[in-house]
Amino acid sequence: MFGFRNLLEPQVFSPLEETEAIANTIAFDKELNGMTADLESWISQRVSVAQSKRPDRSHSLLLTMIMLTGKCNAKCEVCYTAQREREKSLTWPEIKEIIDQCLKLGSRTVYVAGEGEPTLDPAFFQLVDYVKKVGTRLLVFTNGILLSNDNAALKQWGMTGDEMVKRLAESPVWIYHKFWSTKPTKNAELMGLDSTDTLPYCMYSLDSSKQIKMPLGLRRMLEYFPRDRVGVQVIAERRNAEELLETILPFIKESGVKSYIEPVIHSGRNFKNHSFDPPQDLYEKIQPYMVRQNCTRVAYLFAVHNNGFATPGISILPEFLEMVPGYQDLNLRNPDGTIKDIFTLRHTHPFLVKARYCIKGCLCEEFNLKVAEHINNGKVSVGRRECLKYEDILY
Ligand SMILES: C[S@@+](CC[C@H](N)C(=O)[O-])C[C@H]1O[C@@H](n2cnc3c(N)ncnc32)[C@H](O)[C@@H]1O
Ligand code: SF4
Repeated sequence: MFGFRNLLEPQVFSPLEETEAIANTIAFDKELNGMTADLESWISQRVSVAQSKRPDRSHSLLLTMIMLTGKCNAKCEVCYTAQREREKSLTWPEIKEIIDQCLKLGSRTVYVAGEGEPTLDPAFFQLVDYVKKVGTRLLVFTNGILLSNDNAALKQWGMTGDEMVKRLAESPVWIYHKFWSTKPTKNAELMGLDSTDTLPYCMYSLDSSKQIKMPLGLRRMLEYFPRDRVGVQVIAERRNAEELLETILPFIKESGVKSYIEPVIHSGRNFKNHSFDPPQDLYEKIQPYMVRQNCTRVAYLFAVHNNGFATPGISILPEFLEMVPGYQDLNLRNPDGTIKDIFTLRHTHPFLVKARYCIKGCLCEEFNLKVAEHINNGKVSVGRRECLKYEDILY
């Protein structure tokens, strides 16, 4: 009835599953790392999960986070990603191998938050078909341009946006569609689009017979998808905060779609930029509807950037990750091109292990800030290599 649930929360994982995956993760971190006294005390300070039974490797993670392409067809000023196409992007066989390994470790969902726009990745529909074949779930964030714009969709995939949505609806795919404004011109401004034609809007009638303007692709999703697989993502920023309160939140409530209402994360092109933050009074009104602030996901996920390097969080820029000691070991690709054993990497790379026990709100933003503070007294010069100690980066 009430739409303010994150698609990742109980609809996907029960609290029991979460607890079990976190407990098993900790048990293997201890076993494989010998657990230094330092790390042990970090854990006991930060996570209170009792581990009473034998750890089970096949239930040691829940989420497989794969970034897909860095390419994007929008230019949102606020975007936290690097949005760059990478020279050595993950190929479909590599993505499949990562998923297969994570499924064996208990993964229940493939999560594509995106380093760019996932629907532009050449492997996108192979992934959509594969999750159906192996019986797992796919959770995707999209800006929805291809789902609304038939010409762009035909060019990319040889099918219309409508056909894309129908095909997605046939697989166990959950989608968060960007819905930052009900006004096409405002939306084009927020997304840095050249014209409102790039993302066509249409009217949608709610049961109460109220009407709301929305991207055509979102309306198509409301038509073809079961309601519980549809979500809208909104960044609560200065330019849309009022509209979010007045129009978008009531729509979420009435339609029963899921929501992912986020505070502005200061990373990527929005690094250290607070100019898009909403005024305090509006922020406080929106805050109760926001996704959970104290994110524990890092404890039970395996995440990989589109360049094949493992990362502890979503919006940690690959450029910053490069400054971590042991960076090269985060590369999932062996020199012969095969994919490393994810279980071993996840529990033995000191950075991945330690990052898990630094859960404090958005790890990604904190991490980037720590790196920036460390280098050049706040002025980040990407490309300059310094050997950071974990303690310098993580609290
Ligand atoms: C980086 S995008 C990639 C997927 C797709 N291109 C999209 O925009 O939906 C993943 C999610 O992060 C959100 N996002 C981007 N920059 C953000 C920021 N600075 N703060 C909070 N969320 C942000 C996007 O709105 C999107 O929902
Ligand atoms: S938020 Fe998504 S759509 Fe916007 S620029 Fe970033 S990756 Fe592209």
